[in-house]
Amino acid sequence: MTSYTIGYIVGSISSTSINRRLAKALESLAPDNVTLVEIPIQDLPFYSTDFDAEFPQVATDFKQAIKDVDGVLIVTPEYSRSIPGVLKNALDWAARPYGDGALDHKPVAVIGTSGSPIGTAAAQQHLKAILSHLNAPTLGQPEGFIQSHPGLLTDGGEIADDTTAGFLRGYLEAFTALVSRYAAGEERSEARAA
Ligand SMILES: Cc1cc2nc3c(=O)[nH]c(=O)nc-3n(C[C@H](O)[C@H](O)[C@H](O)COP(=O)(O)O)c2cc1C
Repeated sequence: MTSYTIGYIVGSISSTSINRRLAKALESLAPDNVTLVEIPIQDLPFYSTDFDAEFPQVATDFKQAIKDVDGVLIVTPEYSRSIPGVLKNALDWAARPYGDGALDHKPVAVIGTSGSPIGTAAAQQHLKAILSHLNAPTLGQPEGFIQSHPGLLTDGGEIADDTTAGFLRGYLEAFTALVSRYAAGEERSEARAA
C-alpha cells in the first residue's frame, strides 16, 4: 500500500485551541498508510510584498513544508463568520511570490470545530473560495463541520464519542482517496486530456 504524508495547518494560535485538539485527534485516527505532520504558522510575520524579493527563512521553510507533503489538511476555527487572520496570513505567504504558489495543484481538505451548531461552516466556505483561487483542489464531501462541546476533545487527542470518531475516520479516508489520485498523477493527466 502506498504511504502518504499529509501536512496539517491549525488556524488558531490559541494555547487552549479546540481546533488543535481536533488536529491531535485526527493524527491518531488517520489510516495506517497516512502520516499527519504539523506545518506550523505561528512564527510567520505579517506578509508584505516587500518580502517577495527575499523571503525570511521561516516563510521559505513554510512553503517548502507544503510542497513536500502529498496533501494539506486545514483545521480551523471560525472568526466573525470567516477564517482567522493568522490563517489568511499563512495562505498569503503560501501564494507568493506570484507564480510560485505552494498550494498549486495540492489537494486540500478543510475541517474545523466551534460551539456553534454550524461548526465553522461559514469559515470553510470562505476558505474554499480562497483555495480555489490558489488552484488547490479541495475535498467536497464529507464536510467537516464539528460542533464542539465541553469534554468532546481532550488535550491528548482523545474523542469522547464514537460517532464523531467514526465520522473523522471516514473523513480522513475520503481525503486520502483524493490525495492518492493526485499523487498518482491521475487528476493532472485528466486535466491535460480535457
Ligand atoms: C474573534 C473571534 C470571533 C469568533 N467568531 C466566531 C464565529 O463567527 N463563529 C463561531 O462558531 N465561533 C466564533 N468564535 C468562537 C470560537 O469558535 C471559539 O473561540 C473557538 O474556541 C476558537 O477556536 P480555537 O479554540 O481552536 O482557537 C469567535 C471567537 C473569537 C475569539
